[in-house]
Amino acid sequence: MLSKLEREFAVYAQSFFTGEESIDRNLRLKLAHSFRVRNEMRRLAQAESFSPEETRGALRTALLHDLSRFEQFQRFHSFNDAESFDHGDRSAELAASGDWLEGFGPEERDAILTAIRVHNKLAIPPGLPEQALLWSRAIRDADKLDIIPILLDYLEDPENESIVFGLSEKPELSPLVLESIMRGECPRHRDMRTVCDFVASKFLWANDLNFHWSREEFLRRGYLDRIMAHLPRTEMFVRLYENACRRLAAK
Ligand SMILES: [Fe+2]
Repeated sequence: MLSKLEREFAVYAQSFFTGEESIDRNLRLKLAHSFRVRNEMRRLAQAESFSPEETRGALRTALLHDLSRFEQFQRFHSFNDAESFDHGDRSAELAASGDWLEGFGPEERDAILTAIRVHNKLAIPPGLPEQALLWSRAIRDADKLDIIPILLDYLEDPENESIVFGLSEKPELSPLVLESIMRGECPRHRDMRTVCDFVASKFLWANDLNFHWSREEFLRRGYLDRIMAHLPRTEMFVRLYENACRRLAAK
């Protein structure tokens, strides 16, 4: 049984469906993603002993974090923020309008909107208030846990090219991406030139998981092995894989 909010969310998402399968299937993926991230969040909150209030805000953040993805794909036929808009900022803007945050006080609303805004940024900005920081850290983990298998499924489906934005199939990293990775930083989308850039950058996510539970899950679900399966077994990629394994296994 869906709650009233969940029904409204699904109706909102479906209002962007066009009847054209090549577009609608991408919208359906994001709709399902939003619900799955909410479910990941429920597990994370439980494993990390969030209070009932912390859990409530975290779950709302999770359901709404990609609220602008439907509008984005319908208008631009792309999930690439560089070609359209920053979907974290826009999702916060949409969540602030309408009744999406009914039942939350002004401080909690601000914290949820902040977490939505920062969920897709390269890093969490310094100086966030405690609640906004908790929900930001949590949504970034829950989102990553769900996105990895989606990305890998996409890569295995030659029909769907939107995920790699027409990147080159060359089995190598491009210079700017290699530099970022060597610095231990996640490369920027606009610097990516090859599919390997895109796939290998996901190893860096092992640096950016905030909760012990998320790191454990990343390992337990075999995400690193699945990422590696899409890369050539050269020394460079094997080293990136091993470093990521070590970071996740560290307590
Ligand atoms: Fe997102």
